[in-house]
Amino acid sequence: MYICICMVVSRITIEQVIASGAHSVEEVGERCAAGTDCGKCRTAITRMLVAAEAGAGTEPGTTGTTVQSGATASNSGVPTPPSPRVPTRRPLPPN
Ligand code: FES
Repeated sequence: MYICICMVVSRITIEQVIASGAHSVEEVGERCAAGTDCGKCRTAITRMLVAAEAGAGTEPGTTGTTVQSGATASNSGVPTPPSPRVPTRRPLPPN
């Protein structure tokens, strides 16, 4: 499933980038270009970063790691808005 439609970046690629050490939406964008065009996927990327931090067993901010795109962490008390439906777009077949 593609998370970033503009740059055709899949969830798996973003997960790999996060696992390799990206700690912010900007770092994810630098490593795989996701989130660097229209920005609609940045909320989803932020959620993946927060989930990765939660899965790593650390509290946001306790290791010097921050999520920097404005979305809230699960423990902030602010409800997370529902995910927007992202239209699916298949990559063009090779010529
Ligand atoms: S959907 Fe990712 S930048 Fe547009």
